[in-house]
Order: sequence, then structure tokens, then C-alpha cells
Amino acid sequence: MTDAAASVDAHNIERLIEAFAALSEPGEGVTRLGYSALERQAHDLFASEMAGLGLKAAVDAAGNTIAELSPASASGARAIGTGSHLDSVPSGGRFDGIAGVCAAIETARVVVESGSAIRRPWRFVVFAAEEGARFGQACTGSRVIAGLTGAGDLDAFHDKDGVSLRQAMAEVGLDPAGCASAVWDPDEWHAFVELHIEQGNVLESSGTPIGVVESISGSSRLLVTLTGTASHTGGTPMHLRRDALAAAAECVLAGERLAKDREHHGTRVTVGRLDVHPGSITTIPGEVVFSVDVRDLDSQRQRSTARELLARFEGIAAERGVGIRSEVIGDTSPVILPTWVADAIAGAAVAEGLGYRMMSSGASHDAQQISRVTSTGMIFVPSKDGLSHVPEEWTSSQELAEGTRVLVRTLSALDAEEDRR
Ligand code: HGY
Ligand code: MN
Ligand code: MN
Repeated sequence: MTDAAASVDAHNIERLIEAFAALSEPGEGVTRLGYSALERQAHDLFASEMAGLGLKAAVDAAGNTIAELSPASASGARAIGTGSHLDSVPSGGRFDGIAGVCAAIETARVVVESGSAIRRPWRFVVFAAEEGARFGQACTGSRVIAGLTGAGDLDAFHDKDGVSLRQAMAEVGLDPAGCASAVWDPDEWHAFVELHIEQGNVLESSGTPIGVVESISGSSRLLVTLTGTASHTGGTPMHLRRDALAAAAECVLAGERLAKDREHHGTRVTVGRLDVHPGSITTIPGEVVFSVDVRDLDSQRQRSTARELLARFEGIAAERGVGIRSEVIGDTSPVILPTWVADAIAGAAVAEGLGYRMMSSGASHDAQQISRVTSTGMIFVPSKDGLSHVPEEWTSSQELAEGTRVLVRTLSALDAEEDRR
């Protein structure tokens, strides 16, 4: 199967990246939100690429799209898989998630065209709605697969227009009530490997082409609403104000200070969205709604940081006579990935003559949820200037081809080995 790795074609990967990038709302970068019609078009494009290789793709109730290359003779060996997501953040890049799907398509192509015999079913997967940008909770499709999100949870999450996850899934023709049918059986699986861009600058700054992911950060996400008194900016003296935006500004800086203190080395706190109402130049802000994203590799510290932040926000609100309410809109634990899959990836990098380094992921990924179902690994490829979730996100097709060759070799090694209990 090693000749299959040698057949990986950077030009084909480039063609695929361009084809997916074209499926976007107008404007800067790529905007293809979770459970949007555009995301479904991207899944359809994936399915047509699979069909071109003779592989039929099926869509599950939650919108995950899965194609399988089956062994010529049923060996009873458990499946292996690879894939990632095709939805993006607003004005995001053309590689986050898409790189892993293009690597999966190219992997399917070289294995099918090599005619190599395989022992295990190889499954190529596109997870739905990985980004938390629209509904808060990230990795919805893979959480459904892992049994972490069920039909009963879908009304708890809404986008900024008040559309619930359930409504959004139904509007694109999916079957939210049928989520239970999308859960994977761990007994069917041997291992899963996701290729993804690093979304940081460790690989580029160290001149390393391949990252082998050992752990993935968790994230706790809050939505906080501060309610003050909207009033005239000229007629209201400073000592009579209940300015919701001034209170929010103190909260934002309190979050940054907490993440930078001595007890929080490695914790990341970000306010990425802040909506001001009524948002008029001559009206004191009466209400502010803002998001908080707490990331950490330490599960206990991740949750205690979120609790501490809410306590500090309540103190600020009380001090300023401003009302406060908050809700948790997403919560995912950090995971440690099994070393034996990481070793298979490292061995594949060595076989390809590529430098690699063991590393953690600050970003969350579908692999995090799939690690609840089967042993999971991640291959990182470099991100130019460490940028991601922005139009400037960039990874060269050469770097993607190198990562894909490592992916093919890793899956080949996993295909050849005995099942592990
Ligand atoms: O937000 C993240 O970490 C990922 O890009 N979904
Ligand atoms: Mn991603
Ligand atoms: Mn992302």
C-alpha cells in the first residue's frame, strides 16, 4: 500500500480545495455555516467525489456523510476511518476542516486506484456542523455520532436569529428526531484518524511538516447578557448611568486578566462576539450580549475558570447596578489521544522521511468526540503565520500532500495490524 501514498497528487488536492471554497456566501473569506444549504452542497460535492471512485455515500439523520470502501472478502476486521468537517466560521478560511476532507478524498482515490487489497472497511466521513460559531455548541454532528447530543438536546441551542438546532437541521432536509440512528457502534471500529490544519504557529515556526496530536483542548462557552438603562448620551450625567457596555468592557478585561494570571498558564479566555443594544451613537447602551470561550487542556481548571469568570462578572454588574444573566452554550472536555495511534502516525511520517513533533491542539475537533467511540489520532499540517478562522488562513498544497501521504501510510498500517481490545 506504500505505493498508494506515493500516488498522492497535490494538484488534485488543490482542485478540491478550490471547489469547496467556491461554495460560500458572498464576502471576504469562506462563510458556510453549520446546517446551512451551502454546507449541504459541500457534502453533496464530497458524495459526488466518492461516487466518482465507485463509493456510495450515505447521509445520517444528523447530516454526517459517510462512504465506505469495503474489503473484497469480509474478514470481520473492524473499520478504520478518516475525515473532518466542511462547515466554516463566518468569513473564515478555506482549509479549516476542508483540508481533512480533501485528504480523505485523495486517500480514497489513491487506495481505490492502486487496487491494493484491504483487510478492513475504510470509512470516509464528513461531520456536520463542527463549528460552534452558529449555535455555540461545537461538533454537533460528531457529538450525535458519539451519543453526546441527542434529539432531546436540539432545542437548547439557537443561532443569533433564534433558529434552533432542530429547526436548522429540519430546514436542510435532515431528521433531527432520528439522531439516535446516527450513533456509531464502538464494536465496529478499530481506529479513526483526522487530518487538520494546526491553526497555530508551532509547526511553521519550528520548520516541522507534520504534527502528531497527543491531546485536544476542551472548551466551555458562555453567553452573558448585561442589562443597564438606555438613555440620552447628552442629557444623562455620568453619575446617573447604568451603562451596559462599560460594564461589559470591564468583564472582557477581567477575563483577559484571569487567563494571564499565574494559576492559568495555558488557559485561553476570549470574548469573540459582543452585541450592543440599541447600538446608537447618541444612546447609552442599555443591553450587551457577549460570548465567552474558555479553552484548556486541564478539565478541572477549564470549568473552575468559567465559574470564576461568572463570579467576577456578577461582582462588576453589582458594582455598576447592572443586571446580569448567563447561560452555558457549549461544554466539551479535553481529551488525551491513545499513544498507539499517535505512534502509527509518527511511524508513517518517518517512513515518508518527514519531520514530526508531538503536540497538543488548542482548537477543538471532531476527533475529540470520535475518541469517545474508538481510538483516534490527529495529523496536523502547518498554518501560515499561525492564522485560522480568517480569510488569510493558508496551507500549501505541497504541505497538504505531505500530510495526506502520512495519512495514507497511517491507515495502511492500521489496516494491516490485528484488532486491539
Ligand atoms: O473552535 C474550534 O476550536 C474549532 O475550530 N471548531
Ligand atoms: Mn476545524
Ligand atoms: Mn474551526
